[in-house]
Amino acid sequence: GAAVTADISKLESGQLIRVEWRGKPVWVVKRTTEMLELLPKLNDRLRDPESEEEQQPAYAQNIYRSKKPEIFVAVGICTHLGCSPSYIPTDFDSHVEGVHSGFFCPCHGSTYDLAGRVFSGVPAPKNLQIPPYMFIDDNTLLIG
Ligand code: FES
Repeated sequence: GAAVTADISKLESGQLIRVEWRGKPVWVVKRTTEMLELLPKLNDRLRDPESEEEQQPAYAQNIYRSKKPEIFVAVGICTHLGCSPSYIPTDFDSHVEGVHSGFFCPCHGSTYDLAGRVFSGVPAPKNLQIPPYMFIDDNTLLIG
């Protein structure tokens, strides 16, 4: 029984919830339209914008890195040395100029966009891992 379910019926736009899966934190974020519109504009500032370098589920190999654009699911562990990055929904600009929201790892300053794609020039070598998941219905996610 390694799979877990997450009730996303109450997830609000811009909100992140954490689910534990196999001892790891998994994040579920409901991205806003504004957040989604920014993603394609960031490609030239990212190390691997199309997630081509990694072994990832096929549905993670696009700029949204998700099955449904608005629902982002990722393993919340920095690909550098395994700290858990912080979700910064509103004042991420202080870490990456012109980017309103993202993930910041406090250990050595790695930054990721809201598709878990790592910015260029930080210690983390790879995009965040995307776990296997499926939607059981509109309000229920099965992770694992
Ligand atoms: Fe995240 Fe080093 S563990 S930047």
